[in-house]
Amino acid sequence: MLNIKRYLVTAALPYANGPLHIGHLTGAYIPADIYVRYLRLCGEDVKFVCGSDEHGAAITIRAKQEGITPRQIIDKYHEINRRAFAQIGISFDVYHRTSDALHHKTSQEVFKQLFDRGVFTEKETEQYYDEEFKQFLADRYITGTCPRCGNENAYGDQCEKCGSSLSPTDLINPKSTLSGQQPVLKPTRHWYLPMNRYEAWVKNWIEDAQNLEPWKKHVLGQCRSWVEQGLQERAMTRDLDWGVPVPLPGAEGKALYVWLDAPIGYISATKALLPNNWQTYWQDEHTKLVHFIGKDNIVFHCIIFPIILHALGNYTLPVNIPANQFMNLEGDKMSTSRNYAVWLHEYLTHFPGKEDVLRYVLTVNMPEQKDSDFSWADFQARNNNELVAILGNLVNRVLVLMHKYFNGKLPHIPPAARQAIQPQAQEVFTALQTMPKQLHTFIHNYEFRNALNAVMDVARAGNKFLTDTEPWKLYKQQPDETAAILGVCLELVAWLGVYLEPFLPFTAAKIAGFINLGQQDKAAVLQGTYAIAEGTTVNQPELLFEKIDDTAIAAQVQRLAEAKAAYEAAKNPDAAATDATPATEPLETPAEYVAVKELIQYDDFAKLDLRIATVLDAQKVPKADKLLQLTLDLGFEQRTVVSGIAMHYQPEEVVGRQVLLLANLAPRKLRGIDSHGMILMADSRGKLIFVAPDAAATNGSVVS
Ligand code: MF3
Ligand code: ZN
Repeated sequence: MLNIKRYLVTAALPYANGPLHIGHLTGAYIPADIYVRYLRLCGEDVKFVCGSDEHGAAITIRAKQEGITPRQIIDKYHEINRRAFAQIGISFDVYHRTSDALHHKTSQEVFKQLFDRGVFTEKETEQYYDEEFKQFLADRYITGTCPRCGNENAYGDQCEKCGSSLSPTDLINPKSTLSGQQPVLKPTRHWYLPMNRYEAWVKNWIEDAQNLEPWKKHVLGQCRSWVEQGLQERAMTRDLDWGVPVPLPGAEGKALYVWLDAPIGYISATKALLPNNWQTYWQDEHTKLVHFIGKDNIVFHCIIFPIILHALGNYTLPVNIPANQFMNLEGDKMSTSRNYAVWLHEYLTHFPGKEDVLRYVLTVNMPEQKDSDFSWADFQARNNNELVAILGNLVNRVLVLMHKYFNGKLPHIPPAARQAIQPQAQEVFTALQTMPKQLHTFIHNYEFRNALNAVMDVARAGNKFLTDTEPWKLYKQQPDETAAILGVCLELVAWLGVYLEPFLPFTAAKIAGFINLGQQDKAAVLQGTYAIAEGTTVNQPELLFEKIDDTAIAAQVQRLAEAKAAYEAAKNPDAAATDATPATEPLETPAEYVAVKELIQYDDFAKLDLRIATVLDAQKVPKADKLLQLTLDLGFEQRTVVSGIAMHYQPEEVVGRQVLLLANLAPRKLRGIDSHGMILMADSRGKLIFVAPDAAATNGSVVS
């Protein structure tokens, strides 16, 4: 691709069916953000689009689990994720959502265009149907054994173990995820994308793309192997009521396949951002389109969506799809369903002000070529030994010395003094000169670990220079040389304030602020012509990073252990149960006691999600003398619960207390207030008494 005039960068639209975790971040969003921020720094025309993926079984299944509507699910997680992205500094130009009318219209138009061009084949086939739930079962509604690798939990659309893309009828021993029953076959009519007809085109396109910019080995490997296995037609519609309706007469009750509509979401998002010139980014050969995704999305972005764009005729095709591999957590696979992950919104509340620490650790451990691992011990070590000891220490020392010796203002440096330190300064200057080129190459090769290390090497060079020259020993005898040394250091700090921006944007902004680096200075740094002016003043430094102690780390490790234990206990009740065998004949209950309810199985109990929470605020509910409106802190979130305890407790008596909360009770409206859960109280002969932990427990602790 010659003559790139602009970039369009996309990051996979996350399903709005749950919160984001660090695996998502390091997989797609941080690399995309670094790439985009770097391009912006270089003055390139770049747009960065993303949004929530709000259709498909991922959403409806989650809604069913939480006992709320799909609309409530997407509204909840769209907002949580949008905010979390903004807080960690992912600099999307637009964060759209696929439930938006603009997206429905856009994806229906695309479908209609393909239909009118005769791209689809229309067929009636027998598909699996759940008779109990009266629903056809596609994609995640059906599981079974993968015919390729034998994984017993493959989905109807994909096997997550071997990555194969599947159809429900490929599965051995299919089972409905709704009823758990074996489904029956029933005829239904759908529109298919005959990918087999595009096989030759895809193959050539992929191979040709390597001449523009080589793809990552594992991405190319997966694509070649799929094409080799032969492409099959794939249904682009589903029998579902949640999704973009199929815009054809007689297609009631049918929706677009989520993997057709979701990538079109990139186009809708661009339209939302640039209503009048989105075409420049999508229909111009001088646009470089790059998709950042995780490896489970490769087939959709490298084969299916390109076929669709090609079939549409006048669309930009991606130049590269730099998918990352997966990140493990303390040696185990991260998993949303097992609640085994570091959740971004939780991190942000546990480590306020440490956004860049997470960005740093997720960049230096990014799973670029192979799976990587995140551990809290490594997180602590990276923070303490690299961010604090190398970067923070350098910047802090330079500024402290500037204030100590020169009241924060760089004095006149006589040429002889510059000359005197030249031999030692040379190393720094060389580093400053060569790094930008290395950085450029690394970024354009999607090697973000190397890119960040190259910047950190500059900080290392700065520390070495200070250690070699020891200005604190020189100052009394040679103040001019001391000023010359600090001048070199300040240039280096300016350099960091500019080039760290793609990686650690919050830190870069602070550094630039410390030394009053203006727009012109930044431009000069980028051009390699920056020289610190005599008389420049610097501000009092504040610490850029602080040490993270063992207690904070131990608490995080503990949380993971608890999540694991909770999951194991729910899965394997026998091993966890310690109860005595119940008496065969229930004893007669004396009249003043309430009789014990009928027996339940452990599975029934396991459905309750009981948590410890602290009451942050309590208010009387107007005109309801029994009700208090409580604000609870669950550690990972705050929520409102309306509780019928006003006759027993005054609001001020309950604030600060820990309580036991039934956290997964479906929300209810009480006197117009949405109540999210129920506080458990002991009814002691009519007096309600709080049930609370015996000692202060972490908010959000699971009670089981
Ligand atoms: N929601 C999908 C996932 O989380 C990704 C969709 S990417 C898009 O795996 F291209 F379809 F938008
Ligand atoms: Zn498989």
